[in-house]
Order: sequence, then C-alpha cells, then structure tokens
Amino acid sequence: MNGPINFNGKRALVTGGASGIGETAAKLLADLGARVIIADLDRDRLDEAAARTGSAGVAQGDVASEADAERMVREAITKLGGLDLVFNSAGIGDDLVPVHEQSVDRWQRVVDVNLKGTYLICRAASRPMLVQQSGAIVNVSSIVGLGGFPRRSAYAAAKAGINHLTHTLACEWGPSGIRVNAIAPAYTRTPMVEALLERKAFDPTILERRTPLGRLALPAEMAQAVVFLLSDWASYITGTVLPVDGGWSAFGGAGDVATA
Ligand SMILES: NC(=O)c1ccc[n+]([C@@H]2O[C@H](COP(=O)([O-])OP(=O)(O)OC[C@H]3O[C@@H](n4cnc5c(N)ncnc54)[C@H](O)[C@@H]3O)[C@@H](O)[C@H]2O)c1
Repeated sequence: MNGPINFNGKRALVTGGASGIGETAAKLLADLGARVIIADLDRDRLDEAAARTGSAGVAQGDVASEADAERMVREAITKLGGLDLVFNSAGIGDDLVPVHEQSVDRWQRVVDVNLKGTYLICRAASRPMLVQQSGAIVNVSSIVGLGGFPRRSAYAAAKAGINHLTHTLACEWGPSGIRVNAIAPAYTRTPMVEALLERKAFDPTILERRTPLGRLALPAEMAQAVVFLLSDWASYITGTVLPVDGGWSAFGGAGDVATA
C-alpha cells in the first residue's frame, strides 16, 4: 500500500503549462514534490506561469511541430536529468461553426495541436521511459471526444483520436512499465472557456442544467484527477479515459437532468 501521494524525486513535463488545467496541474505536481518543466507556445505567459507554479524551468514551442516537440522534451530531460511523468494539456478549441462553413486550414490546425501534438510529445517522452522501463503519461480528451457535438467536428475528431491513441500506447508500452491514461473533462472554468463565455458562445445555465452535479468544473478538479493518474496510487490503471465531468457522460435522459 502506498502512503499519501507525493512526487518526491520525480521529473515531470507539462505541456500547455502556461494556462488553465496545465498550469493548475503543474502547480499541484510541484507542491507534491515533483520537479516540473512547463512547455507552451505562449512565450509571454511562460515565465510568469513558472513563477506561479514553482516550476523548475520552461520550454517554448509548438507541440504540433515535430522539431519543437522533440526539442522541448530534450530540454526537459536536460534540465531535469531525466523524465518520469508527462501531462499533455496543450490544446485549442474549434471556431464553433457548422461543418460546411469550416475552414479546412483551421480544422487541420485543431487536429494537429490536439492529436498530433499529443502523439509527438508521447513519442519523444517514450524514449527515456523505455530505457528506464517506467513512466506515467496523462493525455487530455474531452466530453466532446465521447459523443457527437454539432459545430465541433475538428475538436471532436481530435479528442476521440486521443482516446484511441491512449488505448494503443498503453497496450504498446505497458510491458515496458509505462502507464498511459487520459482524462475527459467537461466544461471547466479556464481562460479558454471564460473567453467563450465572454463572447456568449454558449449559455452556462444550459450546461449546468445538463450536468448532474449542476455546475461547471474548476481547473483544480481536473488537476486532482491528473495527479491521481500520474501517481503510484494508480499503479494498476492504464489505457483508461476517465470522464471528469460531473456526471455529464452518465446522463442519457431527454432535456435537463432535473426534469428528465
Ligand atoms: N476548459 C475546458 O472546458 C476543457 C474541456 C475539455 C478538455 N479541455 C482540454 O484541456 C486542455 C487544456 O485546456 P484549458 O482549458 O486549460 O485551455 P487554456 O487555453 O487555458 O490552456 C491551454 C494552453 O495550451 C497552450 N497551447 C495552445 N496551443 C499550443 C501549441 N500548439 N503548442 C504548445 N502549447 C499550446 C496555450 O498557449 C495555453 O497556455 C486542452 O487540451 C483542452 O482541449 C478543456
């Protein structure tokens, strides 16, 4: 039986670590003893986020670029002296337009950042993990990756792809002691979602009525699930996509939860 969760001596890379779920998870990992490198495209926010999270350093680049992804993982390994844990939180959303109005370039970019970026970081991180025969990785899917969502075809396809990528990597790397899991969050009050709320892209009260727990999630509630899956408390869990969704994916009724 393991004692309370701690990451003393563990070396972690968090992509998308300059904001939202990634930043919150990076801080929790650091608070629990890990040495963390945060990687992000947004150069301006990286240093401030590193100070806020207590990270050991930063790496700037685009996870969708093979050269950048390889370099960022290399920089993390050099700064930390190795790599034990990866949290792939870098992601972008759709433009929320119908398919027939979608820009193909934007569609491709959403798939590339979310799905290809996750693949590239996992691939680069696997090299030291395969040598040391241990490691834990958590990817980020979404409730949008679990069912059909109108106006979200790129994001839905990318997140559904992450689910099966997670299953596949868990099967391929399980015999080498590497666990790979994903979380599937519902709407979480991060800068990404606050920006959508601000431009009235959706009505939060409709989402709240559709959610058994009756509210949107907080970033800390995602970070706690990520930390659990990265920890030894999840030592026999691999290849799972864990909904962290207030019951969203459990609800199969018509209309609102309260009136169904
Ligand atoms: N917030 C939600 O409601 C929600 C729900 C389901 C899934 N998710 C997923 O959670 C993850 C984090 O989202 P968030 O809400 O914290 O968003 P966020 O916008 O607050 O943070 C995402 C971070 O990723 C970085 N990023 C974007 N593109 C990048 C790239 N190409 N290379 C490197 N970094 C890049 C951004 O600069 C930003 O710092 C994403 O994968 C998102 O799809 C979020």
